[in-house]
Amino acid sequence: MEVTALCFKLLMLGFLLLEKTVQAHKSGTVVLRIIPNRQQHFEYEPVSFYCESNIGSTQIKGIKNAKEFYPACHSEKPPTGSSCMFDKVYAGDSGGYWCETKQGERSNTLNISVTGGSVILESPALPVFEGENVTLRCIKKANSSKLTHFYKNDFPVQISPAEEMRIDNVSKSNEGLYSCSISDGGTSPGSWLVLRGNSFNSTPPHGAPISDDLNVLVVNLLRIAIIIFVVAVLLLILSKSEILVLKSCRA
Ligand SMILES: *[C@@H]1O[C@H](CO)[C@@H](O)[C@H](O)[C@H]1NC(C)=O
Ligand SMILES: *[C@@H]1O[C@H](CO)[C@@H](O)[C@H](O)[C@H]1NC(C)=O
Ligand SMILES: *[C@@H]1O[C@H](CO)[C@@H](O)[C@H](O)[C@H]1NC(C)=O
Ligand SMILES: *[C@@H]1O[C@H](CO)[C@@H](O)[C@H](O)[C@H]1NC(C)=O
Repeated sequence: MEVTALCFKLLMLGFLLLEKTVQAHKSGTVVLRIIPNRQQHFEYEPVSFYCESNIGSTQIKGIKNAKEFYPACHSEKPPTGSSCMFDKVYAGDSGGYWCETKQGERSNTLNISVTGGSVILESPALPVFEGENVTLRCIKKANSSKLTHFYKNDFPVQISPAEEMRIDNVSKSNEGLYSCSISDGGTSPGSWLVLRGNSFNSTPPHGAPISDDLNVLVVNLLRIAIIIFVVAVLLLILSKSEILVLKSCRA
């Protein structure tokens, strides 16, 4: 009987550990961030990518004209994840960047646009939550007292001396391609303002749903295996005690 109790305890412990491991893996996330936190950048300025991962080492990759590449940046090993730092970015560095684990799990993709021009639009690099207040800022290289124009889908939405445009309580209707210009200067490239839910609907994180399904499958298979094992052990113990009973009966 003592053996059975011990057996059960060990099994329960094993099961708990298994559940914990699977939980930890499920909440595994890979997130790519950028500093400065915007989509557009001036040429010859520093830009750093940081990949935060709680599921092992990652590598930062880029895509440009449908071709994937490993960016020519230098990295400092942060405590978790990886980094990719450019002392200077060039127009040719424009493209999409993400990080990837050895298992092929991918983070969000950040599209950056590096301009040789004199005006950029500062907009959030990451998709925003519905209800958030967003500030778009028109940044120029040199000082100017002229009017700043903000455009949404190429239509002016704000013309004023202010270099900022606030969008309070962001909703679906605010999504679009934003840009800005300064009356005496250039026009910035366009940047997409995207709500968080939508970006995931249109570009599901690579592999995440599949690995979740796999996790569920593995857990269920292991549950069945454990049940079979427990039944087998019980049957073995029962048959042994029967033999003992039979033996003592004969004796
Ligand atoms: C990033 O750029 C690619 C290719 O230009 C595009 O398909 C994708 O939707 C963009 N993603 C975001 C979040 O803007
Ligand atoms: C957004 O702006 C409104 C009006 O200025 C303010 O009442 C609200 O608290 C702000 N919301 C957030 C999340 O900052
Ligand atoms: C821009 O103007 C501010 C004052 O308005 C001045 O302190 C600064 O040096 C100027 N910058 C450039 C690049 O001219
Ligand atoms: C934000 O917008 C939603 C509708 O899109 C509205 O129901 C809500 O009251 C708004 N919140 C604020 C703080 O204006």
